[in-house]
Amino acid sequence: MPGVVASFCMSLDGFVARPDDSVGPLFDWYTAGDVEIPMIGYPLTFRVAPASAGYLRAYLDSVRHSAFVCGRRVFEYTHGWGGRPPGGGKAFVVTHRPPPTDWSEENLAPFTFCPDVESAIERAKAAGDGTVGVSGPAIAQQCLNLGLLDELRIDLVPVFLGEGVRYFDHIDPGKAGLERLEVVEGEGVTHLRYRVRHRS
Ligand SMILES: NC(=O)c1ccc[n+]([C@@H]2O[C@H](COP(=O)([O-])OP(=O)(O)OC[C@H]3O[C@@H](n4cnc5c(N)ncnc54)[C@H](OP(=O)(O)O)[C@@H]3O)[C@@H](O)[C@H]2O)c1
Repeated sequence: MPGVVASFCMSLDGFVARPDDSVGPLFDWYTAGDVEIPMIGYPLTFRVAPASAGYLRAYLDSVRHSAFVCGRRVFEYTHGWGGRPPGGGKAFVVTHRPPPTDWSEENLAPFTFCPDVESAIERAKAAGDGTVGVSGPAIAQQCLNLGLLDELRIDLVPVFLGEGVRYFDHIDPGKAGLERLEVVEGEGVTHLRYRVRHRS
């Protein structure tokens, strides 16, 4: 069980999205092959190259009974995944604001709105098997700085975006060390997996 895990696709120059929040070529590897892997809890099938298939399948299996934590921007950008957040379980949105009032009950049903990162992670751990997927670089970075992240997964895509949303913008470098767990060479992507070792 990976604990609290953040998984992102990142460009070689450290961006996880363009300035308009689109991910452009960062997600291309999800559809660049012939091996079909269904997403959990969401009507989407990845088609990845054989080199990535084992890695992705193992990850999805490890978060099969997880809960999910994201920031308000990811929640709004995806429109709450149409009421079916990744993993198919409960999801916790970190935000200063109340829930939207003009969304359907069905869309909002899996979501709980939390005023800070700590309470969101705590509630997410209790809502699933203890595994928590974290999305949104702002939330992942806060988890790192707060000593709440156990595993960091980066799908490194060999492109330069030049500008956009950076992954590691506000990291406190003294707070965490990384221990390599796995490196998998895919096609058009390199999968990196690290255990986070927190320093007090
Ligand atoms: N490449 C990938 O794999 C990948 C995956 C996911 C997302 N992305 C990209 O990530 C970007 C969105 O992530 P983001 O980091 O910009 O935004 P985010 O984490 O989704 O949301 C940031 C918002 O969350 C709320 N928030 C954050 N920290 C908080 C705290 N401590 N207490 C209370 N509220 C807090 C604030 O919203 P309010 O103040 O408005 O409440 C803040 O404006 C998009 O560009 C998306 O495309 C990329």
